[in-house]
Amino acid sequence: MKTKLLIVDDEKDFLHVLKSYFSFGQYEVQTAISCERALHLLDQTPFDVVVTDMAMPEASGLDLLQEIKKVDRALPVIVMTGVGTIENAVESILQGAFHYIAKPFNPKDLENLVCRAAEHVALNRRLEREASRGISERFILGQSRSIQGVVQMASKVAASNAPILIMGETGTGKSMFARMLHEQSERREQPFLTIDCAALAETILESELFGHVKGAFTGAVSAKRGLLEEAQGGTIFLDEIGELSPGTQVKLLRAIQEQEIKPVGGNKSSTIDVRFISATSRDLRQEITDGRFRRDLYFRLAVIPLYLPPLRERREDLPLFVDHFIRRLNQEYRKNIAHIDREVMNRLLDAPWRGNIRELENVLERAVLLSNGETITLGDICMGGPPQPTEFAGAGAVSLKEVVEGAEKRAILDILTETGGNRSAAAKKLGIARRTLYDKLAQYGLD
Ligand SMILES: Nc1ncnc2c1ncn2[C@@H]1O[C@H](COP(=O)(O)OP(=O)(O)OP(=O)(O)O)[C@@H](O)[C@H]1O
Ligand SMILES: [Mg+2]
Repeated sequence: MKTKLLIVDDEKDFLHVLKSYFSFGQYEVQTAISCERALHLLDQTPFDVVVTDMAMPEASGLDLLQEIKKVDRALPVIVMTGVGTIENAVESILQGAFHYIAKPFNPKDLENLVCRAAEHVALNRRLEREASRGISERFILGQSRSIQGVVQMASKVAASNAPILIMGETGTGKSMFARMLHEQSERREQPFLTIDCAALAETILESELFGHVKGAFTGAVSAKRGLLEEAQGGTIFLDEIGELSPGTQVKLLRAIQEQEIKPVGGNKSSTIDVRFISATSRDLRQEITDGRFRRDLYFRLAVIPLYLPPLRERREDLPLFVDHFIRRLNQEYRKNIAHIDREVMNRLLDAPWRGNIRELENVLERAVLLSNGETITLGDICMGGPPQPTEFAGAGAVSLKEVVEGAEKRAILDILTETGGNRSAAAKKLGIARRTLYDKLAQYGLD
């Protein structure tokens, strides 16, 4: 694939020369005579590399660089500077330029830079795609009212630095949600480090969080940096925060208040810049009332409290999860499951799901592994409780498509009831175009 190159300079002849130089081989070149023109072209074409002159009559190369970085941080920009403008060159690097080159230069040198920039951006974009295939692609939100509230709140605060406390029973997706919040924040390129407060004894936990100096305790043979320092610029995820001992709670509170930490056994403190996301499956308010958790720490950590509802309170979303997991498991185990027995589906809808989404995932994993063929039958499902006749009445199997459509139909009906039959309002609430809503109403015979 050719590298799409944009060259910006206010000198027409110079542009012409560069364009002809790069017009052979692996480049596809466009030129712009001004910053404004360049921004227009950038709107139209996904360029791979931009080369811009620094000094131009209206907006400068630095202005262009800033505009570009606002929209696409990954797009490499090479700045061409005039003689004696080293400050500008330095400034451009500080603003995120990929490199600078001083005029006059040998075009071969510029080509080398462009080539490196192109490799750099290709790698970055691949990593970005892989990262987004990470959580965001594996994470499904659902349409139930109870989760939509959380999602709205979360999308407002994800980008900010506000400390977030995620509450919810085991398996409701707290850890996944924490990572997603990080991926949606400005800190996404920086580390996301998790510490499980339930798994570690007090001394170890403190040394993990704050680090320790050599000889701080038996076994501390060398100094070690704490996770709060390792996560610099990024996010620290404090899992099962309700398990923190009173002593560690005090130290953590101090670290958050002063944005400073001291390693265990040391007295030299260092500044930290981390975002705190914590999670708990305990009822922290109760813990506070009972004197086991510090109120002041709670308010520091729970600037934004989010509550992930248990699966049984969002049964409307269950079909979406079933569909999602089966597709994923099909891939993982090279299976071809496309149907679920109605009876199985009804069982899934009625189960208490004390282990929440994780339990559902496990049940389906076993079912997918056990099933021979395209349909999951009752024999493939290992879970307690007698079958309850409901939703998917009748015999035979339902397809994955029907499972999802059932959920969709119900969501539409719910919202229409809520809006008193007002379709525009319903479409808005559902986040779909009115046209789409009409089509769906016709499809489900609801019009
Ligand atoms: N929204 C979701 N979309 C897709 N899969 C999910 C979602 N939420 C949870 N899961 C699945 O359920 C599993 C459990 O989720 P997670 O570990 O985030 O829950 P948790 O609330 O942190 O549980 P615990 O309290 O036990 O730590 C995950 O590994 C994931 O596979
Ligand atoms: Mg967890």
